Amino acid sequence: MLGNFCYHNPTKLYFGDDSLTYLRDELKNYGSNVLLVYGGGSVKKSGLYYELLGMLAKCGKNVAEVSGVMPNPTVEKLIEGTAIAREHNTDLILAVGGGSVCDYSKALSVSVHCADDPWQKYYIRFEEPDCRIVPVGCILTMAGTGSEMNGGAVITNHDSKLKIGHVFGEDVMPKFSILNPRYTMTLPKYQMCAGIYDIMNHICEQYFSGEDDNTSDYISEGLMRSLIHSSRIAVNNMQDYEARSNIMWTATWALNTLVSRGKSTDWMVHMLGQSVGAYTDATHGMTLAAVSLPYYRFIMPFGLKKFARFAVEVWGVSAEGKTYRELAEEGLSAMEIWMKELGLVMSLRELGVTEDMIEGIADGTFILEGGYKVLSRDEVIHILKESM
Ligand code: NZQ
Ligand code: ZN
Repeated sequence: MLGNFCYHNPTKLYFGDDSLTYLRDELKNYGSNVLLVYGGGSVKKSGLYYELLGMLAKCGKNVAEVSGVMPNPTVEKLIEGTAIAREHNTDLILAVGGGSVCDYSKALSVSVHCADDPWQKYYIRFEEPDCRIVPVGCILTMAGTGSEMNGGAVITNHDSKLKIGHVFGEDVMPKFSILNPRYTMTLPKYQMCAGIYDIMNHICEQYFSGEDDNTSDYISEGLMRSLIHSSRIAVNNMQDYEARSNIMWTATWALNTLVSRGKSTDWMVHMLGQSVGAYTDATHGMTLAAVSLPYYRFIMPFGLKKFARFAVEVWGVSAEGKTYRELAEEGLSAMEIWMKELGLVMSLRELGVTEDMIEGIADGTFILEGGYKVLSRDEVIHILKESM
């Protein structure tokens, strides 16, 4: 049964290869002080940065910048950005980049006017903002996280070896996001594929929980089929606009709260992956890829019917004459073949994890109640060891 819920997503999207032209209209809704936030330089290389500066100048905006937002943005960087945003009396934060830049901008939006220590308030005590929130707009250059249409903002604290996501409410979600698939075409293949697996896993995290017959799971199956199809095209031809645009659109729907409506969710692969990320600073999607199959093979017996359904509905495995167990195993094998086609990282060792980190990674893994099995700490360690 589909549970009771409220669904509302306030982010306005502009999608397509002309989507940047709508930025001018959006800018009219905000004051003149714009803070441009971007990463390590890909936006300069692509020329997007210079195009934006031109547009902002034409619209009469005063621009300050936070540059060098790193993948897996840190708490130190957040503090640095907060000072710049305050000094600039920022009216709008314009995030130009991937999930890291978008997440960072949302974290910044609730930190600029926060009287408290943002890390303690939002990431340790998980409190909600009670200060003025600076609006955020996104121009996305990498498909994967769904950050462009959700309230998630993941921040890493290297001192305490914790990578934590706070899912903020509607008032922190981007006011608008510009999604131009062409901007993603300069991504290295490694990042494109990491993003693709992130999308797949977001859907799996919401799919592998519960046995009820609900529309959300049917939507998830459609999204997964589209992603698998388009990813196989994109991995062979990264300039295929149709495939890249479908991947970008799937990423947004995979994590904008739609497919979790009315059902329980899992999220344990992300809890494991985030803890790995805190230790290694590895690419988010690859941390998920490395732990996924050991995790799913471990919980499969507890959610056998759903894993069998996954095999048939997502991977097209024929059900004829097979037990649920056989089907479930075939489904995961099909996923493994696809993951290898994409060249995903399939072991934690390849991400720099060493045996002596396992205990600490287990300590940093938040154990959630969803999915088909609440893991014990020993089981977390077992899965991490299997992922080596
Ligand atoms: O920094 P630049 O130079 O821009 O390079 C980036 C970065 O090195 C590069 N890149 C991005 N767009 C590019 C490009 N290079 C060439 N051409 C382009 N068009 O790609 C690298 C990775 O970018 P990043 O933003 O870190 O990747 P992603 O989008 O995967 O974001 C990862 C972060 O998002 C968090 C992750 O934990 C991680 O911190 N997540 C956020 C979520 C959310 N808001 O809901 C959910 C996710 O599960 C995830 O946890
Ligand atoms: Zn993710």
